[in-house]
Amino acid sequence: MGLGMQTPSSRELRTAFATGESAGNVALMEDPQEPVLLRVENLHKEYRTGSDALVLFENLNLTVHAGEMVAIVGESGSGKSTLLHILAALDTPTSGHVYCASTCIGKLSSKEAAIFRNREIGYVWQFHYLLPEFTALENAAMPLLARDEPRASALAKAEVWLRQVGLQNRMHHRAGELSGGEQQRVSLARALVTQPRLLLADEPTGNLDNRTAAAVFVQMEELHRTHRLTSIIVTHNVEFAQRCGRMFRLHEGRLEECQRTM
Ligand SMILES: Nc1ncnc2c1ncn2[C@@H]1O[C@H](COP(=O)(O)OP(=O)(O)OP(=O)(O)O)[C@@H](O)[C@H]1O
Ligand SMILES: [Mg+2]
Repeated sequence: MGLGMQTPSSRELRTAFATGESAGNVALMEDPQEPVLLRVENLHKEYRTGSDALVLFENLNLTVHAGEMVAIVGESGSGKSTLLHILAALDTPTSGHVYCASTCIGKLSSKEAAIFRNREIGYVWQFHYLLPEFTALENAAMPLLARDEPRASALAKAEVWLRQVGLQNRMHHRAGELSGGEQQRVSLARALVTQPRLLLADEPTGNLDNRTAAAVFVQMEELHRTHRLTSIIVTHNVEFAQRCGRMFRLHEGRLEECQRTM
């Protein structure tokens, strides 16, 4: 499923998270000798339009260890969302490889990729893409409902996560009735309800006012720490980026590690 720049529809989102199958050969293996969770090797991505080629990145490499919180900054159009889509197996590179623990995600069929996403990846979209007709609770439970977990158990787990993001008083509100900051918190709960290995967040605070953005970011930091997540966060906010363990800048097709000044 290549979402590219398009806004995913509710149906696409359900498909992206859907899986009724066991993880089977996409199960990730713990390797105590090798705490690398994500390895990106020689990634190349280009879009072709007629005879024109837009090269987004060439020979891009990245290694992320389990437990790291990594920020990626870069100008608009530099390819940050495309990179996250590739890491989540939502898009495919022109060449190169992405390994998530023992899984080479380029080798997964589309069905296996859907299972992989549902089990291993929590994804926070820039525009949250909640289903407005469903409650906060149902939205947060969606990845579990999509894998056919019994409704009562899925909703119980979603409730735990909504409490963690401070939305215990908004559980039964429809998503469309929530503020932007509340919606982004539901989106965070939805990303984490499956207890994924890897949290990918694409400008999670990009559409929020400064104060709400800071509150949501602090929440992400706390969840990252308390749940020992591995997180990759795309942001235009340099202050937030500098609070992450490592910070990279995607610039002219290269991922450059930046020195933090904080
Ligand atoms: N399916 C597609 N076909 C052709 N070009 C595309 C496609 N998807 C993205 N692009 C182009 O690739 C470039 C990178 O897009 P991307 O969304 O990854 O940028 P970004 O760094 O996330 O930008 P922003 O900060 O604005 O979100 C853009 O110039 C965009 O027009
Ligand atoms: Mg983007």
